[in-house]
Amino acid sequence: MREEKERPYYAQAIPVAETPRPRQNPPSWDKTNVIGKREPRIDAYERVSGSAVYPSDTILPGMLYGAILRSPHPHAKILSVDTREAEKVAGVRAVITGDTPGCGLDWPYQQGVKTKLFDSVCRHEGEEIAAVAAETPYQAWDAVRAIKVNYEVLPFVSDERKALDSAAPAIHPSGNRVGEPQVYERGDVERGFAEADVVLEESYRTESELHTPMELHGCAAKWDGDRLTVWESTQGVYAVQAEVAEVLGLPLAHVRVIGHYMGGGFGSKLQAGKYTIIAALLAKKTARPVKLFLSREETYLCVGNRPPSNMKLKAGVKKDGTLTALEFTCLGTGGAYPAGGTSLVDWLVRDLYVCPNVRSKMTDVFINAGPARPFRAPGHPQGSWALEQMLDALSEAIRMDPVELRLKNIPAFSQARQGNPAYTTTGLRECLEEGARAFGWKEAKSRAAEAKKKGHLRRGVGMGSCLWLVGGGGPPSTVIVKLFSDGSVNLNMGASDIGTGTKTVMAMVVSEELGVPLGKIEIENADTGTTQYATPSGGSKTVPTESPAVRAAAVEVKRQTLEMAGKELNAEAADLILIDGQVVSKNDPSVKTKIADLADLKRRGVLLGVGYRGPNPEGKVVNPFAAQFCEVEVNTRTGEVKLLRFLSANDSGRVMNRLTFDNQVFGGITMGIGLAMTEVRILDGKQTGKMVNRNWHDYKLPTALDFPLKIESLPIDREDSAANTTGAKGLGEPVTIPTAGVIANAVYHATGVRVTTTPIHPMRLCRLLSERGKEDKR
Ligand code: MOS
Repeated sequence: MREEKERPYYAQAIPVAETPRPRQNPPSWDKTNVIGKREPRIDAYERVSGSAVYPSDTILPGMLYGAILRSPHPHAKILSVDTREAEKVAGVRAVITGDTPGCGLDWPYQQGVKTKLFDSVCRHEGEEIAAVAAETPYQAWDAVRAIKVNYEVLPFVSDERKALDSAAPAIHPSGNRVGEPQVYERGDVERGFAEADVVLEESYRTESELHTPMELHGCAAKWDGDRLTVWESTQGVYAVQAEVAEVLGLPLAHVRVIGHYMGGGFGSKLQAGKYTIIAALLAKKTARPVKLFLSREETYLCVGNRPPSNMKLKAGVKKDGTLTALEFTCLGTGGAYPAGGTSLVDWLVRDLYVCPNVRSKMTDVFINAGPARPFRAPGHPQGSWALEQMLDALSEAIRMDPVELRLKNIPAFSQARQGNPAYTTTGLRECLEEGARAFGWKEAKSRAAEAKKKGHLRRGVGMGSCLWLVGGGGPPSTVIVKLFSDGSVNLNMGASDIGTGTKTVMAMVVSEELGVPLGKIEIENADTGTTQYATPSGGSKTVPTESPAVRAAAVEVKRQTLEMAGKELNAEAADLILIDGQVVSKNDPSVKTKIADLADLKRRGVLLGVGYRGPNPEGKVVNPFAAQFCEVEVNTRTGEVKLLRFLSANDSGRVMNRLTFDNQVFGGITMGIGLAMTEVRILDGKQTGKMVNRNWHDYKLPTALDFPLKIESLPIDREDSAANTTGAKGLGEPVTIPTAGVIANAVYHATGVRVTTTPIHPMRLCRLLSERGKEDKR
């Protein structure tokens, strides 16, 4: 029996003493030639022309297509599976179930719950029952439909608020609780409330969201003897390799995972899926390569979500803005399996604002729905929805500007971590002050207050701030830089570029150190067979993790190059610099040579530098910070909310590439708009328990029409030299954390109505406005 495994989530930092490190850390850049500029993506042409081969584009000779039979019921026992008709369908080459020899595998990635790859109980709609490989995808789906299953349909529970009712069916033998509630406490919360001038309490809810990456989840799998190659759409090829080797009992060296491009994951592709294993099993059985990509409908049911949160927050504040106590509870669910239903939802309450007395209790339950997966800043946008609205309400109650209230409570160290480590840098003050100034916060606030008095089009402004838990990165990471004899460079790195521009940033680091233009830098990445070890791209840690390793490798190549050139030029290596493909003396510019003319390099063919990510500073933590501001116009007759403008001020350390930096800001805000305004997974709780909006028509993603008319990215561009050798912190997640709460605050400012449940759609807002209208008349 295999041990149950914890999913690779964010990289667990390895102990400092065990970290291979650069011989010597290079000093921080005092001025840069390339870093910080606006550089278009080095693979932009490939991406937009369609010539980039994504895993879902993979075509292999002799390839078959896989498809999976999934439970139509949210809760059912499988009594029998009859595959005889399916096997007769034209083009079918294999049909597998849990009873097929070699396919009765354990699925070890659901902590505390024993389950199989094909389990005899389906605990959510879409759970895997059988799979088919056929010559065409259509034949595969015909065969899936021909499989006959006898179900014992069981009662279901699809609402986490009902999961602990005595009438609710038990989803696992131990019941519907995912372990004991998680409790955190510091200080004396009761005393804190007693000391407060104002105490407010409110309930909040955020709905479940689906990741919805452009590229679907799936892979192509091919065996060569007992060696397996998998082309997978993933954020981390090494994570997938480890899981596939584990489940199939193969040596790591016999599993090669390749994912040169990938079309988005947002946390839902940090791990292998059952689909990965199923593709490998079908390929083994047929001795043919098998491609298995899910449909959009399947991804909505089976490969993750941002779980719903039901939160209560009580807060005490003194008239001068001192927070005296925060008490938070959350009921959440990761679906039918332990999947972190409340994971990190309370982190901002614990750590964002200075408060001596904090208590939180989080209860995680099972429901008959697909398991959650990490979703861009897991837990944080949910907690932020509650905390930022509460801060807004507190500031109104004590008549203090919301920006002022936050400025009053900026932490210098992490309150929630053991030993209260200091932050390497916190730019929260700058985010708030510079953000408010650039947005014109004070003016916009009074303008909106004036306009509020007349008509049905009301203006409002809202703001909020955040930090993000990870964002500092850390070891391990290894990178190899090769300088060829013509002066061109190859960068070999295991990390995936999940669409954020990682490759471009890394090429810029190489260019900065070696003076080689971006066009002469080739990047080889995301292949366990040929590229170096990297943890999955996620947690906003890819740039702070990989860029110092890239820099270390480039610096090592530079050292060798200058030493070599020193001999040929009869100069001291220390007096030479690398620029525009040349080695030039700092003292005498006439002493120079092209890299391509170095005779020794021609003989050697290549110079090679290995770079490691050194350890993070001991006893400190690295976190990015942000503040966002927005202005809305609300039509109080229709409940429509128009986002007029948005500003995001981000302290993510040094800005590596201003263009991709801004792209992240725009993308993060868009995703936050989705949480705030449009996105909700709808499960039919009454009759079927099925998800009723599992497609792009009914699941409403924000589109260009929902985007603010004006949006501004304001980087607080200060290198964090204590954090690592490039001074960058993470960005991809803090850009989406406060957005939804900021919008809710602006809607409140415009209308006096607080929408505490996502999404703020027109019907909900109209109902709240009319309820308030009745109250006013009383
Ligand atoms: Mo992220 S949720 O670390 O991809």
